[in-house]
Amino acid sequence: MEIYLDANATTPVLAQARAAALQAMADDFGNPSSMHSTGLKARALMAAARERVRRLLETGDGHVLFLSGATEGIQTAVLSALNALRERRATGDLLLYGATEHKAVPEAIRHWNRLLGLDLEVQKIPVGLDGRHDLAWLRQHAPRAALVCTMAANNETGVISDLAGIEAALAGSAAYWLVDGVQALGKLPLRLAQTRIDYAPFSGHKLYAPKGIGLLYVRAGAPFTPLMTGGGQEGALRSGTENMSGIAALGAVLEALEAGETFRDRATMRAYRDRLAASLSAAFSGLLFNAPQDICLPTTLNFSVPGLASRLLQDLFDAAGVRVSGGSACSAAAAEPSFVLRAMGLPAWQCESALRLSFGPLADVGFIDEACRRIAACGEALRRHGLSASGAPCEALPQTECPDAPRLQAQQWDGFMRDHPHTIVVDVREPFEQAMGSALQLAGVVVQAVPLSRLLEVSASWLAPGQASRPLVFVCRSGNRSAQAAQCLRRLGHSQAYTLAGGLALWPEQAGQQHSAAAPADPALMV
Ligand SMILES: Cc1ncc(COP(=O)(O)O)c(C=O)c1O
Repeated sequence: MEIYLDANATTPVLAQARAAALQAMADDFGNPSSMHSTGLKARALMAAARERVRRLLETGDGHVLFLSGATEGIQTAVLSALNALRERRATGDLLLYGATEHKAVPEAIRHWNRLLGLDLEVQKIPVGLDGRHDLAWLRQHAPRAALVCTMAANNETGVISDLAGIEAALAGSAAYWLVDGVQALGKLPLRLAQTRIDYAPFSGHKLYAPKGIGLLYVRAGAPFTPLMTGGGQEGALRSGTENMSGIAALGAVLEALEAGETFRDRATMRAYRDRLAASLSAAFSGLLFNAPQDICLPTTLNFSVPGLASRLLQDLFDAAGVRVSGGSACSAAAAEPSFVLRAMGLPAWQCESALRLSFGPLADVGFIDEACRRIAACGEALRRHGLSASGAPCEALPQTECPDAPRLQAQQWDGFMRDHPHTIVVDVREPFEQAMGSALQLAGVVVQAVPLSRLLEVSASWLAPGQASRPLVFVCRSGNRSAQAAQCLRRLGHSQAYTLAGGLALWPEQAGQQHSAAAPADPALMV
């Protein structure tokens, strides 16, 4: 069973939401703008979903728009506020956003500031070591501010903003206020009309609705400029035929939220988080949490372990079937340290080692029990097998020109093995990852275990006369390390080294389900 602990990235779709979406696609498929009965039914469904939003978010007489997600909501809000400035319906010459905002916010500000020809000064609101906005700084800059963007809760750390404190700091300022509510939906009470918040975007897929459906709250009287014009849907505030299956699914999630039976309450979520935190601390010595838990969402933990890079910990968790996320934006080749943690002023090692573990309010005690059990197993695997990883083996080789190693797709596997029955398959994951699932049998082929960091020690045996004609296929979790290994062997002169494209993550039968005894290439190599 996969233990999915990356709910801040996205969630699966709730069963009731799936059923509602299917119903909206198969039976109640009408266009809400049509005047016949099929259309009227769709319109009623949409109106009911909107009413639920109104009740749950206490939106008063503000507008609630359905749109594609928070990114579109943020664009619309920023465009609206900046266009009011351009038309001199608003004042101020400073655009402010929290230093830990999701990238969608600063990018939207820069984009529309440039496109509308405003060229106003843009500044980050600093945050303290606890991840919260520096309210003294904000008070000082508020008189000049035209737009202030702050999030309700941070996606990486779970830090909950002091919205009351921000509102107080904005007293007397004419600034419009955007609050990104994405990570708060279903986890924090939001009474929007009781605040001076002008715009609040949300995304359905962070709370068990599908991707591609979101919400934007706009305070009554706040300036508005449509991002999309056309058929005049959504009261001409957002044209384009509505995403009815998404709206139906989101409506079903909100119905479950309102009924209060499907999702865990805050106290239960906090108790679950505390259990996960205790398991992590017991499993990894020296582990530090990167934000104070008493001001964080009850569903998010962000932590670092001294001496363990984020990537390495992710590999370990992944091998145990636990899906977590680096606290950093990772590209395939390089992991960027988290800008959120850097903005908080955490030491470099903590930013580079950060891992985020997040669950949703659908989690139950069985799920948390299993997650804790696997966290303990990860700690145990690390203790037993230690760390042998230290840089890529190819770096030690002369950098000769060498074409990329060919990639073997999972679908080609059987044919390849039939044509090359003497192929050697090598799992280059680290021993502690291999220990989580033991040795692999990929479609009947036994796999040797040689961690990437020990590759050069074993490579001579694969290059020996009589052996060099046997194809070598390297595998790992995602296909990155196996590509390095295959490249390395090609540089060393082995002309038939391949990598399994996409790694074990894309293997049709999940590798983690095939546990059997380990088969190291040479027992002396296993640390
Ligand atoms: C805090 C926050 N804001 C905005 C977004 C953007 O949401 P979407 O990609 O659904 O538009 C995300 C998504 O990760 C988020 O976590």
